[in-house]
Amino acid sequence: MDDVRDCTIEQNWSGYSADEHAIWRLLFDRQQRLLVGRACQEYLDGLRGLGVAAGGIPDFRRLSDLLDRATGWRIAAVPGIVPDELFFALLARRRFPSTCFIRRRDQLDYLQEPDVFHDICGHVPMLMNRVFADYMQAYGEGGLKALRLGHLTELARLYWYTVEFGLIATPEGLRIYGSGILSSAGESVYCLEDSHPHRLRFDLRRVMRTRYHIDRYQQTYFVIDDFAELFAATRPDFAPIYREIAALPEIAPDAVLPGERAWSKKEGPCVSTARV
Ligand code: PHE
Ligand code: FE
Repeated sequence: MDDVRDCTIEQNWSGYSADEHAIWRLLFDRQQRLLVGRACQEYLDGLRGLGVAAGGIPDFRRLSDLLDRATGWRIAAVPGIVPDELFFALLARRRFPSTCFIRRRDQLDYLQEPDVFHDICGHVPMLMNRVFADYMQAYGEGGLKALRLGHLTELARLYWYTVEFGLIATPEGLRIYGSGILSSAGESVYCLEDSHPHRLRFDLRRVMRTRYHIDRYQQTYFVIDDFAELFAATRPDFAPIYREIAALPEIAPDAVLPGERAWSKKEGPCVSTARV
């Protein structure tokens, strides 16, 4: 793990300017208003437990101590996107790689690469939840294995459609748990309220076959019932599953297959009703 040390940096919290903290405040205030009633309760609990708030960019050391006590995770400061193998190795050791820089004022609405707001406000609160914390570690181990087997593409789709863009069904309706949505003002509303995207029940093989766009709102979201279900669905050995889906065609980001049904609020959690 020497390369882990080589790739991690110091956050240098005292080096942030007043303007950088002000950008955090703008982003945070806006998401706070949008996320009540849209984010899942596990996320809101995590935010509160960490004391991540409008004050300014948090000090990673303080967050790591709180996280560590709750679920054994810590934050590893990194300069940007880290190589796949290192990323998985960090997750497998319950280290979450977080960028340190914050976007500029002209990028408040959209940024293609992760910044500290996405990583800390989007991802880290979910790691306060025990089941989700275990899922992320298992994903890291699964990533190392997928690399060896040559099936990173399929595994990355699972991350994309759960960790980054996942929705969860609750008795009150759909809620967001995906970090890519939680840190985006536009997509926080779009994913739940717009009539265009498909909202389909989570299915492991279906997700691993589905391509995605990285530069626009998603055309399909996958809905889980709870985190224990997600963890259970991903527990089996993926090696035979990779072989099985390798023989099947990929699925376009906007496709709905015959027999697939949209998630319907009326019917309660994830019970399907034709709307396709
Ligand atoms: N069970 C998966 C495997 O054998 C590992 C994994 C767990 C992957 C959770 C993703 C999420 O590869
Ligand atoms: Fe992310």
